[in-house]
Amino acid sequence: MHVLVTGGAGYIGSHTVLALLEAGHSVHVVDNLSNASAESLHRVEKLTGKKVPLDVVDLLDRPRLHEVIAGGSFDAVIHFAALKAVGESVREPLLYYRNNITGTINLCEEMALAGVKAIVFSSSATVYDPSNPMPLQEEATLGAVNPYGRTKLMMEMMLQDLQVSDPDWRVWLLRYFNPIGAHESGMIGEDPAGEPNNLVPYIAQVATGRRQELRVFGSDYPTPDGTGVRDYIHVVDLAIGHVMALERIAHEAGGVQICNLGTGRGYSVLEVLAAFEAACGKKIPYAMHPRRPGDAAVCYADPAYAEKVLGWRATRDLTQMCEDTWRWQSANPFGYADAPV
Ligand code: UFG
Repeated sequence: MHVLVTGGAGYIGSHTVLALLEAGHSVHVVDNLSNASAESLHRVEKLTGKKVPLDVVDLLDRPRLHEVIAGGSFDAVIHFAALKAVGESVREPLLYYRNNITGTINLCEEMALAGVKAIVFSSSATVYDPSNPMPLQEEATLGAVNPYGRTKLMMEMMLQDLQVSDPDWRVWLLRYFNPIGAHESGMIGEDPAGEPNNLVPYIAQVATGRRQELRVFGSDYPTPDGTGVRDYIHVVDLAIGHVMALERIAHEAGGVQICNLGTGRGYSVLEVLAAFEAACGKKIPYAMHPRRPGDAAVCYADPAYAEKVLGWRATRDLTQMCEDTWRWQSANPFGYADAPV
């Protein structure tokens, strides 16, 4: 298939572009590079020996978006492009609503104009109400608790309304749990701008000496060791999930599919820390801090539906997630700003 990937230079986007090329599809990327580097795609080109066309376009730039989509002959779109920092979304909600919601409206309107009515959407476990029992099934109560999460929920709702209005649309909403890890080559990986918000990128930067110590947010949760528990999923497993959803879309009539992408297994902060120490062969200094506002104690998926509907299951374990993260981080301590590989 010929696939437009929005946000394709980002962390999950670049791994998905690589998986698409490896599966024999052709891709075209649009990315405004606000939180990504074109270097990620140069490295995908090195890994695959294939060209990855990139248009540096913001989804809010309607005329340029029109040019890309109207002239693209795409079979489907995978839509990653969005702002994603929870704390920033609390401080700048309108930025998040404008960027994520308006960007998605522009994208869908241009897709409809071009007759491209198949979309795989990057959603998140953050759309679930935190008071749900675990594991989370797709039917669990929805209710995001911050502006970022609410944009994801609204985008899901928009896509579902769109499909009701025009049954030709084929929509897959993929709800990710906590993506970590990197491609096994160590050539592409997560490269957060500034201080990382998320656990594993932070640990990885402590391991290279770029940060002093990990702050463990909360040691009094009702979990076995008192620290927060999450469902960490290898980014390559996630990327493969996108390729499988895309290949299903090719043979489907219109409709909406909603699917968790997680492993079904939770690990605590201290368990992740221990796995990372084993992977990098170093002690990672850490200190206990108060809970981070808005964090849930425990969050993990019921991944059964993905297996049933897609035949997809995560196969890479926490050890591999940490080893692959470390291979990437130690070879690229400053991310894509480092010298070329
Ligand atoms: N944590 C620390 N120290 C840190 C960072 C995180 O102790 O420096 C802890 C958190 O308190 C939590 C766990 O590590 O218990 C995981 O935190 P992350 O920030 O890595 O991930 P979250 O589960 O908070 O957030 C992720 C995504 C969001 C998404 C959310 C809910 O990053 O985009 O899941 O689905 F909204």
